[in-house]
Amino acid sequence: MIDTLEIIHKFYTPGTPLCDLLVKHSTQVAQLAQVLACRIMERHVPVDVEFVMEAAMLHDIGIIGTDAPGIYCTGTEPYICHGVIGRNMLDDLGLYRHALVCERHTGAGLSLKDIETQHLPLPHRPLLPVSIEEKLVCYADKFYSKAHPDDPTRTLDVARSKLLKFGDDTITRFDQMATLFGPP
Ligand SMILES: [Fe+2]
Repeated sequence: MIDTLEIIHKFYTPGTPLCDLLVKHSTQVAQLAQVLACRIMERHVPVDVEFVMEAAMLHDIGIIGTDAPGIYCTGTEPYICHGVIGRNMLDDLGLYRHALVCERHTGAGLSLKDIETQHLPLPHRPLLPVSIEEKLVCYADKFYSKAHPDDPTRTLDVARSKLLKFGDDTITRFDQMATLFGPP
């Protein structure tokens, strides 16, 4: 088991608004991901729950590199790059499996076609969640706002509506995950 707070604190100063926001959001996502993981394990789908919890705590670690002052991020990269930034940060720590969760959690994942046709400032490779654990973190993340961490868990309809900007393929993937995991 890894100490996810220790890893977060390598990059984020404890007690700062940015660190508090990241830890609060990541904890919300981890708690929901755990509930959803337990739900599907009851249907005899094997899930590495410990890994899901760790990856959920680390999935947004890349936000520090982005330009998103509304959530205290004073980096230079577009916000949509936070998954790929996080992947690189965790790769550098040898956390290759967790790193993939970072870059595969944006939207309902992003296909190469999404990236190319929407001219997204991302590497030209598929950034889609593949494993059940990657899908759990990606899906659970859609029910929480980082900008409004005190908001209640979003409903399925609200979470879905936030993804409309990513296009029909994203909505289809979200609906598939909703069928698999159910409402929050
Ligand atoms: Fe997130």
